[in-house]
Amino acid sequence: MKYVIGVDLGTSSVKLLLVNQNGEVANEVSRSYPLIQEKTGYSEQDPEQWVSQTVVGLSELVRAFDGDVNDIEGISFSGQMHGLVLLDESNQVLRNAILWNDTRTTKQCQEIYEKVGKERFISITKNLALEGFTLPKILWVKENEPSIYEKVKTFVLPKDYLRYRLTGKLEMDYSDAAGTSLLDISSKQWSTEICELLDLNISICPPLVDSHENVGKITSDMSKHTELSESTNVFAGGADNACGAIGSGILSEGKTFCSVGTSGVVLTYEQTGDKDFEGKVHYFNHAAPNAYYTMGVTLSAGHSLSWFKDVFAENEDFDTLLKEVGDVPVGANGLLFTPYLVGERTPHADATIRGSFIGMDSSHRKRDFARAVLEGITFSLQESIEIFRNNGKTIDKVYSIGGGAKNKEWLQMQADIFDAEIVKLSSEQGPGMGAAMLAAYGCGWFPSLEACADVFLEEAESYLPIKENAAQYKKLFSVYKQVYNKTSDLNEQLMEFRK
Ligand code: XUL
Repeated sequence: MKYVIGVDLGTSSVKLLLVNQNGEVANEVSRSYPLIQEKTGYSEQDPEQWVSQTVVGLSELVRAFDGDVNDIEGISFSGQMHGLVLLDESNQVLRNAILWNDTRTTKQCQEIYEKVGKERFISITKNLALEGFTLPKILWVKENEPSIYEKVKTFVLPKDYLRYRLTGKLEMDYSDAAGTSLLDISSKQWSTEICELLDLNISICPPLVDSHENVGKITSDMSKHTELSESTNVFAGGADNACGAIGSGILSEGKTFCSVGTSGVVLTYEQTGDKDFEGKVHYFNHAAPNAYYTMGVTLSAGHSLSWFKDVFAENEDFDTLLKEVGDVPVGANGLLFTPYLVGERTPHADATIRGSFIGMDSSHRKRDFARAVLEGITFSLQESIEIFRNNGKTIDKVYSIGGGAKNKEWLQMQADIFDAEIVKLSSEQGPGMGAAMLAAYGCGWFPSLEACADVFLEEAESYLPIKENAAQYKKLFSVYKQVYNKTSDLNEQLMEFRK
């Protein structure tokens, strides 16, 4: 039996999956690393932590493997998107990586619109200039840390840096490059126009490759540290959302998934890169060859729930916290939550907005709050589904992965709020499985990713909307949608008190 490894370099941890030719997960290892949050809105990580934790994790995985290490034929990657890693001419890291959930760059986003023109910018990159994306982070460093900026030779994204350390070669795949705001999405080339208008040297952009491309082998030094064979083929890999899409079989028109990790995503397949969503949803290159996807992002999805647990139920685990959620009626007894803990992306690209609990009542118990948090996260994802539907997409079946697929009440809630069938896969490894599938396809095990999905992925459970609940949620959703406009000015006023 042959094997591949899928590496999912996430925001809180790296997850490593050892997958065999039948798509079965033979072993998995997870290693965490900290976030560095020095100020409100700042979110950084030390790239060395990604490397050291992945290397230790790989050696754990290999040590526990009782087969021949040469049968592990390939490895590929899924990575947290947008994070800026700056390298000098010796490819040394110049500062901590600035991550996707860092929102310090509002001013630089405005500068991008001023210099490139908002419409022109959207027509090239197909997306808004958002604080989380990479380009405004580059401009921030240029403006605020000029002595670092002058040493920059190249920038890469998190999983590209990790892969560089394993192979000694630098490149970036299209699906991750799409989230930098520097890629012309339709023509799949770095935008000389954007670089020139913003006075950036295009040579800082690394070479572009396909996600399934074989980019080399593990260096002998890394082979020693990871205990992987030097013959292991390394495939470029892709953005976590693109890999999550592959790992959920979102490989043809009409397929949609909903994923709850730290952030939450609703993603749907697009065959072409020439549509115009006016930047209302993200529009990126897929990690499947010559395909695209659109997606909406809730910045604090799983993060809202873990925040709530950490602050109000520190000593409980998630199962205990959510145990009684099913006993609380639809609408959490009149308690409504908006998950804007770190600002929002879709449909309100707003770094200033913050969350609310509306309708608190002395009868409310922790279980009402827990239900309200789950409902609020799901309403936020429903806002993206509404945009897709308003643009003519049929969304009647949604594959649910990540934290949102771990709880039956939440899966039913998704069916009721999205008013669609929710399907849970037997293995809900999402991005890590997508990375493993890129390696399996890259190794030539299958003629296409679709053929790989037919073998690797299996539908396990399905949840259909309960009519009365769907009707109740429709009413509540219209209340939910008003909260943003009614609280945005209040949050602006509270800004000065945030430290
Ligand atoms: C997508 C985004 C997040 C990160 C999380 O645009 O910022 O989903 O990819 O890892």
